Amino acid sequence: MSVELRGITKKFGALVANDDIDLRVESGEIHAILGENGAGKSTLMNIVYGLLSPDSGQILVDEKPVKISEPSDALAAGIGMVHQHFMLIPVFTVAENIVLGHEKVKGFGLLNLDQARSEIARISKEFNFDVDPDAIVENLPVGIQQRVEVIRALIYNAKVLILDEPTAVLTPQETDELLQVMKNLKKNGTSIIFITHKLREVQEAADRITIIRRGKVVGTALPTATQEELASQMVGRPVDLTMSKKAAVIGSTLLSISNLKVIDNTGRDLLHDVSFDVHAGEIVAVAGVQGNGQTELARAILNLEEHVSGNILIDGVDIVGRSVKNSLHSGIAFIPESRELDGLIGSFSIAENLILDTYDLPPNAKKLLMSPSTISSEATKRINEFDIRSQGANELVSSLSGGNKQKVVLARELSRPVKVVVASQPTRGLDVGSIEFVHEKIVQERDAGRAVLLFSTELDEVFALADRIAVMYRGTIIDIVPASISRSDLGLLMAGIKPKVQL
Ligand SMILES: Nc1ncnc2c1ncn2[C@@H]1O[C@H](COP(=O)(O)OP(=O)(O)OP(=O)(O)O)[C@@H](O)[C@H]1O
Ligand SMILES: [Mg+2]
Repeated sequence: MSVELRGITKKFGALVANDDIDLRVESGEIHAILGENGAGKSTLMNIVYGLLSPDSGQILVDEKPVKISEPSDALAAGIGMVHQHFMLIPVFTVAENIVLGHEKVKGFGLLNLDQARSEIARISKEFNFDVDPDAIVENLPVGIQQRVEVIRALIYNAKVLILDEPTAVLTPQETDELLQVMKNLKKNGTSIIFITHKLREVQEAADRITIIRRGKVVGTALPTATQEELASQMVGRPVDLTMSKKAAVIGSTLLSISNLKVIDNTGRDLLHDVSFDVHAGEIVAVAGVQGNGQTELARAILNLEEHVSGNILIDGVDIVGRSVKNSLHSGIAFIPESRELDGLIGSFSIAENLILDTYDLPPNAKKLLMSPSTISSEATKRINEFDIRSQGANELVSSLSGGNKQKVVLARELSRPVKVVVASQPTRGLDVGSIEFVHEKIVQERDAGRAVLLFSTELDEVFALADRIAVMYRGTIIDIVPASISRSDLGLLMAGIKPKVQL
């Protein structure tokens, strides 16, 4: 089935998010859409899926104009979508989520639980999904949750599937599996509109690429284009995809963790025997297969975990047991893994979100009074520096694009005078130009004498930034190695195997 967009325009107030967009997706092709954060990709897809209505323009399915006013129209027309942020209910089973997500759509009856189970089994078998219909969603790895979202779209026999940044939260292995799923779908004749910021994925999976910039289609490309070509077409200037940094100048110990242990409510170990130091002027990256305790370690440093023993010293002062706010004020910048949960308040403005931790401290406040003029001029500076695409400091964070939300967190946390920076997946969802900027910024933090602890599932990012690499495996750090380690030896360590020849 082909889908064609003609002259789609969508404005939000003065902002033209989509400006006269033409796009044609052929039957059985994987069509990638590339564009900077805020370029208008999600807006366009939400229009195709009926979540937003365009100010003007037309959608044609198999050459015939269709009217899509809500998602059930899109589903009835054979268009399914998996969103940038998951929409599953964590405490329900896979089958329950599928039943709940099965809206009343023309041509499809309502599902009961047994039908859902057999549909899940049918689709799983057809595309090699390996999804247990009775598993509780929150117990599943994100990669499988992603498949549940895909199944939910396919259950309506979607012939066109929209995937909005499906790989942003996946591990490299889960990503490879999803790309394989996409290729299987394509073989079956399904068309896929694929949004991602990762150029490698575009090169690997796409048949054609459309590039949009500031709401306009600026060009098309083939997957044979180099990453540099794609990046510069997207950003409108050359982008340096390699990172250069000076040798680290190591100072005193600013973060010292010893014998850290974290248990869950049932008494099971989440972390055990974690001991390591991070010095002023160095970046220590934590590498490991997701789920080996990285999330808990980052959260424990902020006192977000409940049952913690051991010591966490910030410049010599033990902070275990303090409040989160107090931990931040002891000199930590924190970029959380999940910005939706602990990074931002959507119903607050950009300016307000930029001072969430510091609204009662100078210069934002004098004595008990907040200083609105300082807050607003500081916000404008941050917006410019971090290139937050918005309509100004008073815009609500909820209306920003995914990547621009992440930039608000970064702008807040990387603009405070701190001793230790704890950054989890700092560039998740960012476009290549913004990644370049954030990497430079993190190295600047290091060179300004901060201790940086970086958590990243992207090995490219680990190698670009780290001075030393701490490898986590089954709740503890099994080794700390120089960043000169080879990829294959690091891979072995991540699997819990120490290379025979010690470094
Ligand atoms: N509901 C809304 N109200 C106001 N502005 C909006 C709304 N939704 C999106 N925008 C604006 O429209 C522009 C395009 O946003 P969109 O989410 O489509 O970007 P995107 O290309 O998906 O970016 P990203 O890569 O960061 O996800 C942004 O400037 C965003 O702030
Ligand atoms: Mg988006």
